[in-house]
Amino acid sequence: MSSRPSAKVPSDPGRLPMTLPLLMEKKRLGEPIVMVTAYDYPSARAAEAGGVDLVLVGDSAATTVLGYNATTPVDLDDMLVLARAVRRGLRTPLLIGDLPFGSYEVSDEQAITTAMRMVKEAGCEAVKLEGGGEASARRARAIVGAGIPVMGHVGLTPQTSTALGGWKAQGRTAAAASRIASEALALQEVGCFALVFEAIPSAVSEELMELVEIPVIGIGAGPSTDGQVLVFHDLLGIRDGLGPRFVKRYANLQQEMNDGVSAYAEDVRARRYPGPEHTYSIDPAELAELQERLAAR
Ligand code: KIV
Repeated sequence: MSSRPSAKVPSDPGRLPMTLPLLMEKKRLGEPIVMVTAYDYPSARAAEAGGVDLVLVGDSAATTVLGYNATTPVDLDDMLVLARAVRRGLRTPLLIGDLPFGSYEVSDEQAITTAMRMVKEAGCEAVKLEGGGEASARRARAIVGAGIPVMGHVGLTPQTSTALGGWKAQGRTAAAASRIASEALALQEVGCFALVFEAIPSAVSEELMELVEIPVIGIGAGPSTDGQVLVFHDLLGIRDGLGPRFVKRYANLQQEMNDGVSAYAEDVRARRYPGPEHTYSIDPAELAELQERLAAR
């Protein structure tokens, strides 16, 4: 079983680990909650150093780090490998593991077993599942009943985006928005500790925020939610293209990586790398003896 590593990660030593009561307190005080995705040790270290509150090992890993064009192909074993690496890089943020498509829908038993593996094998402190329909709410209730905190996710739910008509904003009619409201309230009712609102109009979020009592983290849901989440690769520009409308890009690391690898390739081809400062030395007497031994072969 994994546990929080101690002092390996640079972070504010005075910062307390995030807990569910602290999260509720942040909502009560109106302090914005910061969440980001992470998929490996370096991204976890960046989240730790950046002082975020919540880290999600998102199934967006399918597209950001595994090269698929949808989130559905990623499976539980993939997620466990990624979540374990993230766990090793985190000390203070609460770690949430996304339940991948196909790992919780079949039965309550399947959902509990999957959630338990996220906790026992990867050290996640909570899990997230998508959708607030009857089946998703039932699975969330079962997992909460097994003692594992659950974050819900409504609006655009990428695992079922085909059924939603594509990767696009949701809740743009009164009927669709009131369906999202019912889903959010159902997830709250079964004991979810927080919700993600994804890709819904700001005005709809504002209305829903009047109804929901648990912390809500928005992505493409406007400024009224209790917090914001962005995908690590989107906010740092580790991708081709700009990404969805709601992404704000804080760096352009894909370009930096491309430039770095190109410069390295040019150096190798021009024999500028390695230089003397990158090489190891040997005592001249040892070298002379080596030359004698090789000559004698
Ligand atoms: O998988 C993911 O990255 C997510 C976030 C967008 C909330 O679900």
